[in-house]
Amino acid sequence: MRIAIIGGTGVYDPRILSDIREERVATPYGEVSCKIGRYKGEEVLFLARHGEKHSVPPHLVNYQANIWALKKVGITRIIATAAVGSLNPDLRPGDFVFTDQFIDFTHARPFTFFEGGERGVVHTDFTEPYCPEIRGAMEQRASTLGIRYHNRGTYLCTEGPRYETPAEIKAFARLGADLVGMTNVPEVVLAHEAGICYGLVAMVTNFASGISPTPLTHEEVLEVMAENGEKLKALAMGIIESLPVTRTCHCGDPWEHLLV
Ligand code: HPA
Repeated sequence: MRIAIIGGTGVYDPRILSDIREERVATPYGEVSCKIGRYKGEEVLFLARHGEKHSVPPHLVNYQANIWALKKVGITRIIATAAVGSLNPDLRPGDFVFTDQFIDFTHARPFTFFEGGERGVVHTDFTEPYCPEIRGAMEQRASTLGIRYHNRGTYLCTEGPRYETPAEIKAFARLGADLVGMTNVPEVVLAHEAGICYGLVAMVTNFASGISPTPLTHEEVLEVMAENGEKLKALAMGIIESLPVTRTCHCGDPWEHLLV
């Protein structure tokens, strides 16, 4: 098995896959429950980031356990989805953004596998935080499917679970953020540390606080996710089909061996 889908807000249903079975994977950070099924003959793992009923808030997701579990079962590529607010007038509700950079504004989450001791002190290169090969596959599939997409975007991650103030959004826009969300850090960080390719399909559900004319609600976010659910599934499965079997990117080295 090489590919995992991490479903974010509004993406809880693994039934895009067939012959689904549940698997519990033990990790040093706790047990992880995931679904494993088949798509066109290939085994694919599905993990609902917030739990199947959206019961885990962004700041309490056990990101370390999730990524460790994927590494342990042999996953080499992750396709993740996330609902995001937009700070950029060109990135509109309903658009798909394949992020290429992030800015970390979280402040109270475990965020690394490398804390000295046995695993040593490791400073991982983050010049290319998102896998360029997966981004290429996303772009190719999105254009085939006629989806409105953007192949670049900077995701700023907040601690949540509250939405931002308009003053924060103004400041984040000045820093260069295009999108705001609450989950991509440390998920992408841990995947990168573990040598797993990671690609994010960010789904714009709203303009961010102070840009949107109305107060933000989780219902509004879910509505836009539901409207675009079919496109998102088609895209995720299309990406799986178009990824070459062997990785040609550099996401897997040089730290991959440290976690096995
Ligand atoms: N802010 C933070 N997270 C979000 C938003 C937002 O505006 N929309 C969807 N997830």
